[in-house]
Amino acid sequence: MDDYDRRQFLHTTVPGFLGVLLSLPALSSAATKANGNQGREAKNAAMNWDAFLESVAKEAAKQHLDNWNQEEYLKKISTLASNLHRDDPTLQKGFAQIKKRLENGKVDFEYLEKRLDFAICLVQFEKDQTIAAHDHPGMTGMILCASGKIHTRNYDLISEKSIALPDGKNRTECTLKKTAEQTLAANHITTLTAKARNIHTLKATEITQLIDIFTPPYNDQRAEDSRWFNIDDAPQPDNKDLFQAVVR
Ligand SMILES: [Fe+2]
Repeated sequence: MDDYDRRQFLHTTVPGFLGVLLSLPALSSAATKANGNQGREAKNAAMNWDAFLESVAKEAAKQHLDNWNQEEYLKKISTLASNLHRDDPTLQKGFAQIKKRLENGKVDFEYLEKRLDFAICLVQFEKDQTIAAHDHPGMTGMILCASGKIHTRNYDLISEKSIALPDGKNRTECTLKKTAEQTLAANHITTLTAKARNIHTLKATEITQLIDIFTPPYNDQRAEDSRWFNIDDAPQPDNKDLFQAVVR
């Protein structure tokens, strides 16, 4: 549960988080009807939480195949996430539990589901909160902005070298290529694969709530392997998309 703690994620306030609840549309009978039809009323119709989980699990299981296509997978689960009933009773119960945790302990993220193949996490940012550049070793990520507005930049790792320092320690210097930059508003999605866009930064310009799906999820090894980067403000003189960075 401390994956985001490791990311030095700043704590937030309960009132801010309540925006998640306010952002949810009113409960409709559609979710109930959807339950009777495996979560779908028609092609691309909204899905209830259980059907959503089942569909993500089915897609995430394909990561064990030799020819798993991460970009295609991310497109599929992005469509599923876009069609998720935000007002599904099971999901609302999850939000209510998070609200309780926030009241008790200032927790600003919560796993809604954690399985061996994938994890779904709700994350809250206050206005101007940031997460510094970090990677997701061997993982894919899909980030849906549930509400608010957040600026994201993604980088590919182009090269890295280890420099021996006089004190006997090593410093890892990297060249990163900026491969995506966008401001996400409600219902916008950004993705990253194990190779592409894997390093990212986030800065909320409003109170923002995100739903993340990581495939595979963080485990002890992936959390330990995850790295933070200090990226130069200015790009290389000869290429505006290339940046020098140092692993913290
Ligand atoms: Fe991240």
